[in-house]
Amino acid sequence: MKLRFGIIGCGRIAPSHGEALTKMLTDEAELIAVCDIIPERANSFGERYGVKKIYYDHHDLLQDQEIDIVCICTPSGYHAALGIEAANAGKHVVVEKPMALSLADADRLIAACHANKVTLGVVHQNRFNPAIKLVRNAFEAGRFGALTHANAAIRWCRDQKYYDAASWRGTWAQDGGVLMNQSIHNIDLLQWIMGAPTEIYAYTATRLRQIEAEDVAVAILKFANGAFGIIEAASTIFPRNLEETLSIFGATGSVIVGGIAVNRIEAWRFGDDNEEQQILSGQQSDPPTVYGFGHRELLSNVIQAIRAGKRPLVDGEEGRKALEIILGIYHAVRFGTPIKFPLQEKADSLTALMGGKS
Ligand SMILES: NC(=O)c1ccc[n+]([C@@H]2O[C@H](COP(=O)([O-])OP(=O)(O)OC[C@H]3O[C@@H](n4cnc5c(N)ncnc54)[C@H](O)[C@@H]3O)[C@@H](O)[C@H]2O)c1
Repeated sequence: MKLRFGIIGCGRIAPSHGEALTKMLTDEAELIAVCDIIPERANSFGERYGVKKIYYDHHDLLQDQEIDIVCICTPSGYHAALGIEAANAGKHVVVEKPMALSLADADRLIAACHANKVTLGVVHQNRFNPAIKLVRNAFEAGRFGALTHANAAIRWCRDQKYYDAASWRGTWAQDGGVLMNQSIHNIDLLQWIMGAPTEIYAYTATRLRQIEAEDVAVAILKFANGAFGIIEAASTIFPRNLEETLSIFGATGSVIVGGIAVNRIEAWRFGDDNEEQQILSGQQSDPPTVYGFGHRELLSNVIQAIRAGKRPLVDGEEGRKALEIILGIYHAVRFGTPIKFPLQEKADSLTALMGGKS
């Protein structure tokens, strides 16, 4: 039987779920309900994807017994609370990134899903980019040797219009800045290869956009394996998105994956020039948007996991890892000192932690 989906929040990212569920995963999934507190949005989104059940209040959607699983596509500050409500209503949960804005909330969401025996998937779709899968396979095969250092850079443009179009964006209460919103994907990939950090130091600033949180950030990390990491994140790049790039360096391997959203291999050096030539020439072009094609594979992975009673690739525990790094960066900025990991969270909201400071 197909899994019956509901989508809560019909804004900018919702079509990535809508397209995947109604055009690509039609053998395994059915989108039967959508919900937005702005009725026109819910109506037009529902119409676009041929969905009959339109809700304007998520409580009503969550009471719908026909729905097996919900995708939470609301502003980030609501993710944990809505995910917990969905789990308590017996629904499986797919939550957009970040899964929560504090570790305390992330842990409550994870616990609620465990307690209700429902599956939790967090949308870090870039793990499914073909280029990233190759990097992960090379890592798992030990081809990098001892890792020395890595670099995750996001150089994108989110102009003032983007922030002004939705009042939650760039706020501490609902979003955070370029780290929590845009850079979280690349930070997830960084830690997927490099493992957990032991210490982080960072600077952030709000340089060009009129928002509460940061629009530019740099951080340095020490990883448990002895390697170093650098994170560079900016939503201020003129005049448009430039690149999202992950570079991994080890004793016997050097790889750079760039392109607009970590989807193009720029360097693939494991000592065999022919292999690099083959990899570079066999690539597809950039996807049309920075969101890429990964939602389809991520949702499919969650569906397979539910059917098999297994963990999805990015479950709550996995989704928590990038969140912990970003919160570690915010703690370093807030307290002006290197932060040791695992993070001992000092506040359970970004507003309380950053207090309007960036
Ligand atoms: N995976 C990705 O690459 C990616 C890309 C963009 C955004 N996102 C994430 O998706 C989330 C949404 O971002 P967006 O840019 O689409 O936001 P948006 O503002 O465009 O859309 C959010 C929608 O949620 C609705 N909403 C708010 N509260 C609601 C509630 N209680 N019930 C029902 N609807 C509600 C709003 O009315 C709005 O239409 C954010 O958490 C963001 O971080 C992920």
